[in-house]
Amino acid sequence: MHYAQHNPLPLPSGGAYESLKATMETVFDWQYELRKQNLLNLYEKGKTLAWNANDLDWSIDVNIERLVRERVANGMAPMMNSLLNPPVALGDKEVVEFQLNMNAFMLSQFLHGEQGALLATAKIVQGVPWEEAKFYAANQVADEARHVEVYHRYLTEKLGLSYEIAPSLNRLLDDIMLDPRWDITFLGMQIMVEGLALAAFGVMRMQMADEPLIQDLIGRVMADESRHVAFGVLSLGDLYQHEMGAAEIREREDFIIEATHLLRERLLPSPVFEHLGWDVGVWTNWAQQTPFMRGFRQMMFSKIVPNLKRLGLLTPRVRDAYEKLDLLQFENHKDSVEDPEVTPPQELVQLLAQFMQGTAAQAASSH
Ligand SMILES: [Fe+2]
Ligand SMILES: [Fe+2]
Repeated sequence: MHYAQHNPLPLPSGGAYESLKATMETVFDWQYELRKQNLLNLYEKGKTLAWNANDLDWSIDVNIERLVRERVANGMAPMMNSLLNPPVALGDKEVVEFQLNMNAFMLSQFLHGEQGALLATAKIVQGVPWEEAKFYAANQVADEARHVEVYHRYLTEKLGLSYEIAPSLNRLLDDIMLDPRWDITFLGMQIMVEGLALAAFGVMRMQMADEPLIQDLIGRVMADESRHVAFGVLSLGDLYQHEMGAAEIREREDFIIEATHLLRERLLPSPVFEHLGWDVGVWTNWAQQTPFMRGFRQMMFSKIVPNLKRLGLLTPRVRDAYEKLDLLQFENHKDSVEDPEVTPPQELVQLLAQFMQGTAAQAASSH
């Protein structure tokens, strides 16, 4: 695929390339015994449902600024001020800038997460001992390359505004890549990072309902991601519930708790405040405290929590940590085996509807 890279991504402080010495063992499986039929089914599905980045209609004119200005004209600024209670009341101009940057920030982190998934899955091909898991992971590698391709094209050709990787996401991807245990690569990428991505993509799709190219792009990516998360859930269940001892499980608990903190941090838009020249401390503190944004961040875990439960990893220690973060509310939601599609939690749909309706109500009352 050829596309003009009008707006190259800004580089992180470490420069254009980041090298890590990963130490995972590479495992050949000379038995070629295909034991896990459910993984093979997923593999068949993955091959059949592959798409091409060229299938998207790249001729669509994307003008996010116009979309945001329309919302602002419908009363978005007073709505945001009353619902989000920012430290300084936002005017129309600030709301437009904030929305444009938030959108670019989120999409940029999606791109960087996709590159992480590409590399992590390549590592899984090498390290996972089962032949059928290697097959599936290889199929996922191709999916992730396509995801990097479409997000990158969208950001550089269509948006013209992008962000470098957020430090907390960078740290989590590094942890995942450096860990020598193949199941931690799975746990970190397929369960944690991709579980969060599924929820975040769903939100982006609802927020950008009036932008047809991103609708198509995210719809295709999400269909792939739900298989990837299911791959993680199917691959790890037996291992954690029947094969590992207490000491090993304890290490997985530590990893989950640390990854959860990093993912929550990754959702804070501090780089946006910095880019806008707003007081980063004041605004980040606000983003941490304000109920709407807190609720929003919690809901990003709505797929992760039931998946951990299915894996047997919602142990007393993890429960305790999640209780403090108010995340146990999702434990009875459907996991990725029961519901591979992403149904956004009802609370989130209501929250966003409130936001959209608030805009509409403001518009109605101003006429
Ligand atoms: Fe992906
Ligand atoms: Fe993925």
